Amino acid sequence: MAIFEGEWLEEARAIIARYPEGRERSAVMPLLYLAQSVDGHVTRGALQEVASLIGVRTAEVEAVASFYTMLRLRPTGTHLIAVCTNLSCALRGASEVYEAAHRATGIPHGGEVSDDGDFTVHEEECLGVCEHAPVVQVNVANHDRVTPERVTEIVAALRGGEVPEPARGPAVDSFKTASRILAGLEPLDETLAEGANA
Ligand code: FES
Repeated sequence: MAIFEGEWLEEARAIIARYPEGRERSAVMPLLYLAQSVDGHVTRGALQEVASLIGVRTAEVEAVASFYTMLRLRPTGTHLIAVCTNLSCALRGASEVYEAAHRATGIPHGGEVSDDGDFTVHEEECLGVCEHAPVVQVNVANHDRVTPERVTEIVAALRGGEVPEPARGPAVDSFKTASRILAGLEPLDETLAEGANA
């Protein structure tokens, strides 16, 4: 089944219309985020559809999609828990946080999605806020100075339908919502934060 149908096709056209005529290929990132917001990850079909919409080869779209870790090419749970394990975070206990995230979600190493479909745990490179190490992103929202206990609490809260408040910016209720924000299709304001916690 095609992804860009109905309202999603209209949104895809609106995204392409943000760019000057002849520069449609510049819409590749927001189109991939839109596709990800529909299926929860970027499928092979989505790569082909995006390529067709902007008039480039599928391999070119795949090259972009495989470069950015915010774009997921593999099945992904409702919530994406990304643990930075780069140097600053590693020095401040990121490995223990990463292990705790696996334990709390029940995902074995090498696994993609928890059995209940709620979580994916991802090992992330430097998230650019090393002074707050160790850093965890929950649906792309940053949580600072996270301990193993805190990541366990975050997972429990998400299981209970709550969205823990991040260190800055809005709380995001799912990876699909985060993908719509990254596509520029959702407001990045307090309304979203309130809605996410409602
Ligand atoms: S090393 Fe983790 S945020 Fe930079």
